[in-house]
Amino acid sequence: MRDKFGREIGSFRISITNKCNLNCFYCHKEGHNSNNGRYMTAEEIGLIAKTSTKFGVRKVKISGGEPLLRKDICEIIENIKDEKIKDISLTTNGILLENLADKLKDAGLDRVNVSLDTLNPELYKKITKFGDVNKVVNGIKRAIEEELTPLKVNFLAMSINIKELPEIMEFCRDVGAILQIIEFIPLKEGLKKYYYDISSIENEIKEKADKVITRKFMQNRRKYILDDGLEVEFVRPMDNSEFCMHCTRIRLTYDGYLKPCLLRDDNLVDILTPLRRGENLEPYFIECINRREPYFKL
Ligand code: 5AD
Repeated sequence: MRDKFGREIGSFRISITNKCNLNCFYCHKEGHNSNNGRYMTAEEIGLIAKTSTKFGVRKVKISGGEPLLRKDICEIIENIKDEKIKDISLTTNGILLENLADKLKDAGLDRVNVSLDTLNPELYKKITKFGDVNKVVNGIKRAIEEELTPLKVNFLAMSINIKELPEIMEFCRDVGAILQIIEFIPLKEGLKKYYYDISSIENEIKEKADKVITRKFMQNRRKYILDDGLEVEFVRPMDNSEFCMHCTRIRLTYDGYLKPCLLRDDNLVDILTPLRRGENLEPYFIECINRREPYFKL
């Protein structure tokens, strides 16, 4: 199904918890800051995911909070699994990944994205408050062994960690991870000082690249392949109407609302209440898709 702006729906980002074992100062909490204690069961998540395939969803990303904190994470993955869904991935901070990688693979997870803004233990702790970066590094290595691949490392580019980028690039090349360089979204006035314009970095990498690929169905993201084999992808949402025009994503909040846009919280569609009443879920998807509009317009 297409929305009013002609955009197809292709991917579904499902948040399964708002809890996290880290406390990154910049966190956008998937654009949803509520705390009402309402949670979806593994079964409910599976039902909603399966219904989404009727509207074109072929890719599901599981997120949080930190999704690996849910004890039933493997059951959730098993329930999402569907012949129409071609790709199930999960975004994690990697702290709990080392011991879970094999079980996630067995449950049917295809790949993981791991957030990693620095390899420096002190800076990592400063950014995340509680985190031990060695656990993340071990988690990434283990996940690659388990073939949760292509594994992507999410590097959020900020003024305080941009100098860490060469080391992160080297790490990604050595372990065989794809690097995603993500533009910082300053959610509050006080966070603006951390903003870093990644244009210069993209230009540098473009010059070194052997190959450039534009991912038409992924918000027109550009991907570069360097001669040493490292793949680098740029995610630049800020003030980017191209990004929005190529968005094919809908979201589900951890407390059971369909969410048309990451950056808005005023147009949610409650789907968990009708599900618990035994209603047909399709009208709620249609309502969500009808409410979709580009956040940054042309
Ligand atoms: N701006 C941009 N990206 C963010 N993320 C979290 N908060 C922000 C923000 N303020 C991204 C991180 C993480 C992913 C789950 O969300 O890069 O990898």
